[in-house]
Amino acid sequence: MPYLLGIDVGTSGTKTILVDHKGKLVGKAVGEYPLYSPRPGWTEQEPEDWWQATVATIREVLAKTGVKADRIAGIGLSGQMHGSVFLDAAGQVIRPAILWNDQRTAAQCDSITATVGKKRLVAETCNPVLTGFQAPKIIWLRDNEPERYERVRQVLLPKDFVRYRLTGEFATEVSDASGTALLNVPERRWSEVVLDRLQLPREWFPPVYESPEISGAITPAIAELTGLRAGTPVVGGGGDQAAGGVGNGIVESGAVSCTTGTSGVVFAHLDAPLMDPKLRTHTFCHAVPGKWHVMGVMLSAGGSLRWLRDTVFAQEKSVSEQLGVDPYELMTAEAERVRPGSEGLIFLPYLTGERTPYPDPHARGVFLGLGLNHERRHLARAVLEGVAYGLRDSFELIAALGVEMPQVRVSGGGARSRLWRQIQADVTGREMCVINVDEGAAFGAALLAGVGAGVYPDVVTACRETIRVVETLAPDPQSVRTYAAGYELYRSLYATLKTSFGRLSDLH
Ligand code: XUL
Repeated sequence: MPYLLGIDVGTSGTKTILVDHKGKLVGKAVGEYPLYSPRPGWTEQEPEDWWQATVATIREVLAKTGVKADRIAGIGLSGQMHGSVFLDAAGQVIRPAILWNDQRTAAQCDSITATVGKKRLVAETCNPVLTGFQAPKIIWLRDNEPERYERVRQVLLPKDFVRYRLTGEFATEVSDASGTALLNVPERRWSEVVLDRLQLPREWFPPVYESPEISGAITPAIAELTGLRAGTPVVGGGGDQAAGGVGNGIVESGAVSCTTGTSGVVFAHLDAPLMDPKLRTHTFCHAVPGKWHVMGVMLSAGGSLRWLRDTVFAQEKSVSEQLGVDPYELMTAEAERVRPGSEGLIFLPYLTGERTPYPDPHARGVFLGLGLNHERRHLARAVLEGVAYGLRDSFELIAALGVEMPQVRVSGGGARSRLWRQIQADVTGREMCVINVDEGAAFGAALLAGVGAGVYPDVVTACRETIRVVETLAPDPQSVRTYAAGYELYRSLYATLKTSFGRLSDLH
């Protein structure tokens, strides 16, 4: 019986899972590492930390499960998207990697748009260039650290650096490369036009594979280090959202997921590269060969609830740690005691600025309507509802593209709360389903490895054979009506406050 290894190089840690050919999880290990913020709005990590966590988690999974390395048919990689790893001629890391949520590159986004031309940029890459994407980070290095820029010979995405260390190969794949602003997304290859106009050397960027294609194999030295078998194939894999799409079975028309981790992502499969006319959603290549996906990305979904837990519910947090219960359960139990609509309280979840539908780094969180009648439980419910309103914004934009969404698969930490799942169903008016697997991107990476290794004939079959819906929640008609009115008001608030957010950011 073949086994498959999925490795997800995330922002808080690397998760490695081992699954059997039926998709059953047999082992899992997580290795954490720090995130550095040397200046406000900057986020960086050491690629060496990702590598050490990868080695440690592979060894741990092999040791825990006792599965022999020669039974592992393939390895799939997934990871945080958009980051830049700069390597010199010897393949050594030149500086810490700059991450997806780094906000230092506003000036470079403007200069890229002006140099390439907005129309041409969108025609090639299907997206505007945003501060988190990879290209502006490379231009930032040229503008700000010229002596380091002079030494650059290769630029990699985070999971592709791990691939280089595992296999010795420089390679990427279409889904992650879509988040660089350098890929021709309709044609699934590097954009000569964008690279030329930005004067970036073509040879700095690795060959682009489709996600299930084999990109290299474990070297003898790495086999020695990790316990893996030399020659085990490593497939292209996917950026964490596309790999998560595979892991949730979002690989056919009509399939949509709603994932609430720190961020909140509504993700839909596309047979052709459709774009929101105002570019408020991202259109990227999917990890399914020859397919695309569209997604709306909220920056603070679960992040808003974590903020409330760490501030207003800090006492519950320490009590729950002593009792060994989940503090979010205590919070949602409080929220459940409040009627839909939070008795006139509305929360805007823009704690770290926003991407979809308002790409605005200055937007901030708001509680509107606080009165003497409100207690902490109302704040908790308003946060759950405000995030659901934000997710509905993404559903509306994707629906406007003509994408059918008969059912939504919920995943991520936020999907564990039944109350939050129900609120999401009621706010969006859509049926919310839970599936049998909860390993997201790492699971998708393992399935892609299974396709590359010939365990499954294709990605759709891999998903059909391993993923099924285990629970469905229907919207409650009365709550749908209450939330429809709440959403109308919510939707009007950003426009009302936009100028105030800008003025607020000038104040400090
Ligand atoms: C997607 C995005 C995040 C990162 C980190 O566009 O920015 O999902 O990949 O997880």
